[in-house]
Amino acid sequence: MTISGIEGRFSLVTIDRKNFINNFSRDVKSGLTSESKHLPFVYFYDHAGSQLFEKICGLPEYYLTRTETDILEANADDIVSLFTGETVLVELGSGSSTKTRILIEAFLERQRLAHYTPIDVSHKILEESAYSLLEAYPDLVINAIAARYNEGIDHLNILKEQQNLITWLGSSIGNFNRSEVTDFLRHLQKIMLPNDRFLVGIDLKKEKTILENAYNDTQGVTAEFNLNLLTHVNRELGGNFDVDKFFHKAIYNEEIGRIEMYLISHIDQKVFISELDLEVSFMADETIHTEHSFKYSPDDINALAEETGLYVEQQWFDTEQLFSLNLFAPAAD
Ligand code: TRP
Repeated sequence: MTISGIEGRFSLVTIDRKNFINNFSRDVKSGLTSESKHLPFVYFYDHAGSQLFEKICGLPEYYLTRTETDILEANADDIVSLFTGETVLVELGSGSSTKTRILIEAFLERQRLAHYTPIDVSHKILEESAYSLLEAYPDLVINAIAARYNEGIDHLNILKEQQNLITWLGSSIGNFNRSEVTDFLRHLQKIMLPNDRFLVGIDLKKEKTILENAYNDTQGVTAEFNLNLLTHVNRELGGNFDVDKFFHKAIYNEEIGRIEMYLISHIDQKVFISELDLEVSFMADETIHTEHSFKYSPDDINALAEETGLYVEQQWFDTEQLFSLNLFAPAAD
């Protein structure tokens, strides 16, 4: 794809693709050979997975995207007004960058030029989204990073003379368990300068049926998305998963406050993954745990900030109080 007028406005670095495949091999091997089988969520987001996730975002049951968009639209101008100097908008897990357009437009109304650094594991989705943004906004400069979150933030160029607005939308934070999320936020807090801010979308604890419907949609898109993980293993690691022999299920674990996503084997079966030289046996009804989506109460959010050297400077909710958008600032030492 070539688009005129983007020269000098776009760069993309891919951090260690080889390492990504090595990690993939290692994670699949350890996940499928452990007593209760599991696979890490990061591998959902190959190109097909990223596109399926976009479809999830438009589903009527998946209230997360709709409510977060409403909050952003109502408050983007206030958020952006906190940044008076040259600002870099950094986004973790940027995907299609659809919601980010609201912030980009708010910045461009106040500043002549906007700098955007999306970080995502799919370099193809980064390229596609960047091209469409650059076409839409002639005053936008994009420096994209194809990496996992940790490697991505280590690659950021944090300059004293700029302010960073780091965003993490869509409640992706919920996909980490408590110790993973505190480790990651502490890491991020260390690289933030006093005037940098961290804007995080966090889904709230609520009635079980609303949550379970959001992750078990009637059109089966979520099922397709979950099953695509097996297709990704087949493609990258030479697996022979028959996706029709597994089904998707999401349940809300009220005690822990999280959605748990599973792929479940319909029958007794064996799967071979050639790159790993690994045969995996499944019994009928055996599960692969593929993802968590932790839900938070406002108190949980404050506690998380406090534990990680941050504080909640501002917080917004949608009118139905389903979702929250949180502006974290580094706490003074
Ligand atoms: N970050 C999304 C969430 O927790 C990811 C997600 C939505 C997801 N639906 C899913 C992951 C279904 C696996 C399966 O809401």
